This record gives sequence, C-alpha cells and structure tokens, in this order.
Amino acid sequence: MIIPNSMIVSTGSAVPDKVLTNHDLEQMVDTTDEWIRTRTGIEKRHIAAEDQYTSDLATAAAKKAMEKANVTPEELDYIILATITPDVGFPSTACFVQKNLGAVNAAAMDISAACTGFIYALELADTLITTNKAKTILIIGAETLSKVTDYTDRATCVLFGDGAGAAIVKPAENSRGVLGTFTKSNGDLHYLLHIPGMGTKHLPTHDSLEQHLHYIKMAGREVFKYAVTAMGDAAIKIIEDTGLNNDEIDLLISHQANLRIIDATAKRAKMPSERVFVNVNNYGNTSAASIPIALDEAITTGKVSMGSTVVLVAFGAGFTWGSAAIKL
Ligand code: ACO
Repeated sequence: MIIPNSMIVSTGSAVPDKVLTNHDLEQMVDTTDEWIRTRTGIEKRHIAAEDQYTSDLATAAAKKAMEKANVTPEELDYIILATITPDVGFPSTACFVQKNLGAVNAAAMDISAACTGFIYALELADTLITTNKAKTILIIGAETLSKVTDYTDRATCVLFGDGAGAAIVKPAENSRGVLGTFTKSNGDLHYLLHIPGMGTKHLPTHDSLEQHLHYIKMAGREVFKYAVTAMGDAAIKIIEDTGLNNDEIDLLISHQANLRIIDATAKRAKMPSERVFVNVNNYGNTSAASIPIALDEAITTGKVSMGSTVVLVAFGAGFTWGSAAIKL
C-alpha cells in the first residue's frame, strides 16, 4: 500500500465574467457552432478583460483555496504557478500573486509546462513536502490564453479560454494524499504547438507582428495524434505504478482540450463515461488551468469528496505530458 507524503487539502478556481460563445465566433471567423461542437465539444469559453491578467485570475483562485483550508498568507512556504501566459517576461507571475496575497514568507516561482503544468506543480510540491523543505504550498494553474490567441485564425481561436485553478498542498494525513505522479517531455516536437514570438528569439519587429509570431501556432491534426497516444499512455502508467484497480478510481480528470481526446483517454484507461469528468464545453482549453478548474468543479459539485480517488492526466506544448493519482 502507498503511504502518501503530501495531500491536496483544498481547491479554488476563478474565470473571467466575459463569455465568448461559438455563435460569437461565427461573427469573427469562417466557422460554425456545429463544426466547433462536433470537432471539440466546446460551446463557450471565458475571456479576460483587457486589464485582467493571469496573476489576477491566479490570485482569485488562490484566495478561494486558502479560505477553504483556513490557510493564512503568512503560512505559505511556497507558491508554484504553472502558466504559459505570464503577466510579463520577468519577474514570475507567482511573485505578483505572492504580492497580491501578502504571502511574506513564501518562495515563489513559475513553471512552464503548458497544459501539463499543474501536474508538474503537484509533483514538485509533493517532492518539497516529502523532503521537508515546505509544509504549506500553494499550487496554481492560470492562463489568459485569449491574449495570445489569433482571432483571425479559425483553426486555433475556437479552442482556447481563460481561467485559473489553485490547490493547497500539505503533509498527508490518514492515508489521504498524492499516491503517485508521472511527468515526461519531448522537445523534438516543440514546433507543433508554440508561440514563436514571446521570448528573445523573435523580438517584436514589423515583420514579427505581420507574421503574427506572438500568437499561438498549432499543427492541430499532429497535436491531436500525439495527445491521444500520450494521454492514454500516461493514464495507464499511473494506474499501473500505483497499483490501483480500475474500480477503485472514482473519477478520471483529463486535461480539457477536446472531447474526442478526453473520450479516447477514457477508453484507453477503461473508464466508463459516468466516471469521466467533462467541462470543456463551458471553458474551452485553459491549458495549465484546465485540470485544477476541473478538480475544483468536481469537488464543489459533489462528484468527488474526501476519500475519493482521482486520476489526473494531461498533455501539452513541449511536448509535455503526465499524470497523477490522488486520494482526496
Ligand atoms: N471552423 C471550420 N472549419 C475549420 C475550423 C473551424 N474553426 N478550423 C479548421 N477548419 C477546417 C480546416 O481548414 C480543414 O479544412 P480543409 O480540409 O478544407 O483544409 C478542416 O476544417 C479539417 O481541419 P483539421 O485540422 O484536419 O480538423 P480536425 O478534425 O483535425 O480538427 C482540431 C481540428 C479540433 C484543432 C483537432 O485537430 C484538435 O483538437 N487538435 C488538438 C489541438 C489541441 O487540443 N491543442 C491544444 C493544446 S494541446 C492539448 O491541449 C491536448
């Protein structure tokens, strides 16, 4: 039997008020509600206001998770924030959250692992607690992808949304906790999904702006193929590593990118649809925020509760992929 070292004690999430529906997108690019629904399962997504940034959504989600766990800002030893849409080049968005919360005792840093970011953050938090480096850790997945989405490119602009999800991680109690984590990457395939112009390689020039290099570029069909294989493999890997029987898993939470990818992952993991969480219809793909928003929603809607066993699986740009099994 696995004796966990750390556990998620609470979750919180936040999304912007503004909603962009498929019908709204029909007015912006050559697409249809029907195409978007059948290819992706997405119906609407939340979009940040012009002056609303990743750190704002992250702070709102964090405050909810902290309130539920009765954790004060001073108690936080670490803030680990997964994002690919940081507020600025540097410092880290986690430092803005640290300032917003008044978490004066916390170390803060960002992780860039795209849609797998929250699982990387959980693995790191689990390791910090296991090695006695920290006792109370705030992990966050937060994105404002709308700010790097090209709303003239119908192949990508229908997919993405904004939001944030957070969790408080503490030392495990009563066999509750992180049963296992698995992370992997393959940088050979970096060019299939990327933003070429957000770093130092392509600094802003007239050319780079004309080529829309500061927006998400994606080879959708290729990404789809790799996502289905890697997420299925990651689900099976964590189930085997933790020795869980299929009927012991109360809920599978896959990265919410596309209903067809979620269904394919569930099929590989042999999970029936009633034990598979889906909210991609309401939020679209929120990258690093997708898993923690889904986990928070699964808890607040009563799909899972204390003692439930949940498997998390994700795949994203890099490529990165990973999975985790947790007993809530
Ligand atoms: N509306 C209407 N038609 C469209 C749209 C749109 N929004 N977007 C593309 N099309 C057209 C294409 O131009 C193409 O037309 P053509 O055949 O005349 O050239 C046709 O639809 C088919 O395009 P495909 O890209 O082959 O469509 P596919 O069935 O692969 O679906 C999709 C596209 C939904 C993007 C799919 O490839 C996908 O989900 N890929 C994974 C992408 C993803 O989730 N990325 C996020 C990050 S990774 C992750 O989170 C897992």
